[in-house]
Amino acid sequence: MARDILATLKSEHDELRALFEEINDTTDRAKKKREKLLADVEARLIPHAKWEEFHFYPAFKERADRDGLKTHAEAMVEHQAVELTVLPEVKASDVETPRFAGAAKVLGELVDHHATEEENTMFKMARKMFSAKERADMDVQYEEWKASPAAAAVMTHAQAKTGLKATIKKLIP
Ligand SMILES: [Fe+2]
Ligand SMILES: [Fe+2]
Repeated sequence: MARDILATLKSEHDELRALFEEINDTTDRAKKKREKLLADVEARLIPHAKWEEFHFYPAFKERADRDGLKTHAEAMVEHQAVELTVLPEVKASDVETPRFAGAAKVLGELVDHHATEEENTMFKMARKMFSAKERADMDVQYEEWKASPAAAAVMTHAQAKTGLKATIKKLIP
């Protein structure tokens, strides 16, 4: 089967959904497990979101009609809500507390909502905007980008930004 960026992004959504299900099943005593699952979420979520923001969303925006532009704006706002508000709240929470459990649940719900909107609306539009060849090329570019120093730098920057927000939340709850 030909490669398709939309199939790759969808399968990453499913991996994230599964991780959040696992987190929701943990108890407040599962310190190590929660830490590991949160690290797994970040390792998958951040490159996915950043590549969408830097590469996929701009390509989508260029070809979008008015409805597409609205969909693009919605997606961007949801990414910002995750990066600047909800993920910092999770990271500001002690993993052995109900606060963590609650914040992680909200993060999982927001990611699921956002992913579902992408799949049902944005990717449907993208399937008409981009040829099979373009979608296959994007899939190769995404794989190469994930292994590149640029992706590592983006990851470090995003984690520093979220970490800073989390620190502020700890100081001023
Ligand atoms: Fe997204
Ligand atoms: Fe996505």
